[in-house]
Formats: sequence, C-alpha cells, structure tokens
Amino acid sequence: MSSVLSPSNTSISLTRYLIEEQRAGRINPDLRLLIEVVARACKTISIAVGKGALGGVLGDAGTPGAASMNIQGEAQKKLDVLSNEILLEANAWGGHLAGLASEEMDTSHPIPDVYPRGNYLLLFDPLDGSSNIDVNISVGTIFSVLRAPEGVTQAQDQDFLQPGTEQVCAGYTTYGPSTMLVLTIGNGTHAFTLDREVGSFVLTTRGMQIPDDTKEFAVNMSNQRHWQPPMQAYVTDLLAGKEGPRGKDFNMRWVASMVADVHRILTRGGIFSYPLDAKCAAQGGKLRLMYEANPMSFLVEQAGGAASTGRQRLLEVQPTGLHMRVPVFLGSKAEVETAVRYHHEFDAEQA
Ligand code: AHG
Ligand code: MN
Ligand code: MN
Repeated sequence: MSSVLSPSNTSISLTRYLIEEQRAGRINPDLRLLIEVVARACKTISIAVGKGALGGVLGDAGTPGAASMNIQGEAQKKLDVLSNEILLEANAWGGHLAGLASEEMDTSHPIPDVYPRGNYLLLFDPLDGSSNIDVNISVGTIFSVLRAPEGVTQAQDQDFLQPGTEQVCAGYTTYGPSTMLVLTIGNGTHAFTLDREVGSFVLTTRGMQIPDDTKEFAVNMSNQRHWQPPMQAYVTDLLAGKEGPRGKDFNMRWVASMVADVHRILTRGGIFSYPLDAKCAAQGGKLRLMYEANPMSFLVEQAGGAASTGRQRLLEVQPTGLHMRVPVFLGSKAEVETAVRYHHEFDAEQA
C-alpha cells in the first residue's frame, strides 16, 4: 500500500526540528529539553490569554484600586503574574537550569533544593506588551538562554550579567490571531505556528530574512519632544519623505507590544526603536537589556538584520544589573546603520 505522506507534505514539529539540531551537534539534550519546556509553558500561557474575559484573567493583579507593582515600578496585570508562575513552575523540575530571572521578580530565582540542577540560565519577560491585554491586542513572551559560569550550580544575580553575544538560544512567542514561536539557537531564525488541534508547534518559516532596506518605522511618536537631538534629526528626515534627504516616503506602525512590532519586522522588514528620552534617561532607556533587547537582537541578527543602542552593537553591551535598560534600534540592516550614523555624526560634532 502506498503512503499518502511524502517528505514534502509531512510537517516538521518543534520536537523534530530540535532532535535534528541535536543530531547535527548544534544543541545538547539539556538545551533541547529546556526549549521544549519553555514552548510547553508558552502553550499554557497562550490558552490563558486566549480565554480573555471568560478566563477571569484580565485586569490588574493585587487588590482593587491598589495594583501590585513589579521592580520596574509598573503595575502588574493578572496575566503578568500568571505567566510568570507558569514559566517558573514548568522550568523548576527539569534539571537543566542553574537559575531563572524574570522581569516580574526583583532578583534571580533559585532552583528548589528538591530538584537537580543543570548548566543553563533562563531569563524571560513572561508577558510583553501587557498594557495591550485588556484591549485584545497581541502580547507575547520573550526568553533568553545563557550558560552558567563554570562551577556555578546555584546561580546568583551576577552570574546572569553576560553580554548578549553569550546567548545560546533566544526566542519569543506571540499570542495573536495565531500563536507563533520564533526561535534561534545561533543557526538562523525560524518561525513555528501552533497547531491548536494537535497542540504542537509546526515549522512554518525556516530561515527568516529581514530585507536590508525598508520604508517602515516603529516608534512611540508621543515621546518626540523628549528625544535627544540625533533621534529628532533622524525622524525629522524620515517624516520629510520623498522631498527630504531620504528621498522616499516612510510608513509608521506602533503596536506597543515589542513582540508584535519585532515580529512584523522579521516578517517584512522595518526599523523598531525605543530611544533614550528625557522621561527614561535616568534609567538608561525604556526596554530591558537582558530579557527584551538581547533576545530580540540575537533573533534579528540571525535573520540578517542589525541591532544597536544607537552608539554600540546591542549584543556587546556589558550588563550591570538584571533589570538594566538600554536604548534600542533594531531591524533592517541599512536602516539601523542610518540611525546609528545620525548618532555618530551628532557625537562627533559635540567632541
Ligand atoms: P512590558 O509589557 O513587558 O512592560 O513591555 C512593554 C514594552 C514593549 O513591549 C513596548 O515596545 C513598549 O513597552 C511600549 O511602550 P509605550 O508604552 O511607550 O508605547
Ligand atoms: Mn516587555
Ligand atoms: Mn512584561
């Protein structure tokens, strides 16, 4: 009897993709398990997000009128807290981690003594874009994996403070019209779509490629008056369109969920920026280096794009704290280089 399945119409699940990467020697069984566990936790978060008001999970965490706050000084949503707990619980027992760190926790989180420990460190933003939850716009989870320093089995905060170039894996899931997982282990950036009936992630784009040039930018324009001069000059020239020095018209998109904005850029190009502004200058920026900027920069570079603070390659920034913030420019390579040039030219004039 001939089979109706041929290699061209069998789908590649995340499990199969990871097993094949393991056979090729690019990941070991512990990292494979780690990625599978994170993906499974994200499926659970996806179900909670998808239930919306029916799940009783919308709104602020804490007591009515007194939302609980995280270390960032931001009000926590119920789904921020729930997503954090789902990721912590899922990753505690597998034996692949020496520690965890999260946007929602002040300090790193030890692996409970009852479980074995491994060599990896996991950092995550359990729910990114949470200001969008209550209005039913895409949110996501961002994660980054580092190796624990030699000999460390119970990681402390300082063990996590490694530049983004040290990441061995990074990814995000986006909970949108479909749930997608976008992943890199340093061998390209690949997108998987959740088959909700089967309950498994299926490879839908192998080797995402960001076009070098773009006509689309993403920034919160309401901060314009607070920006520094090079950012003012860069955006002024974008807005001048065909008649200006850039010689082309630009379109603008801003979802205010980094996952959704970065996903658009990985899919069709663009530049995403959250520059320094007068409101966030004291903290060094708005977005967090360890679990927002670094994993997204790794994914973007692996897809042929670029990521910078405006003055330095993002992945080379030496972190000074778990919740350190940085300015971010990432996406289409030529456009990121143009934004960086405005910063360098301004700095040179000042010198
Ligand atoms: P989080 O919900 O994890 O705190 O992150 C929100 C971030 C990011 O997703 C987004 O790009 C940015 O904050 C939105 O900023 P604005 O509120 O200035 O639009
Ligand atoms: Mn975030
Ligand atoms: Mn978050």
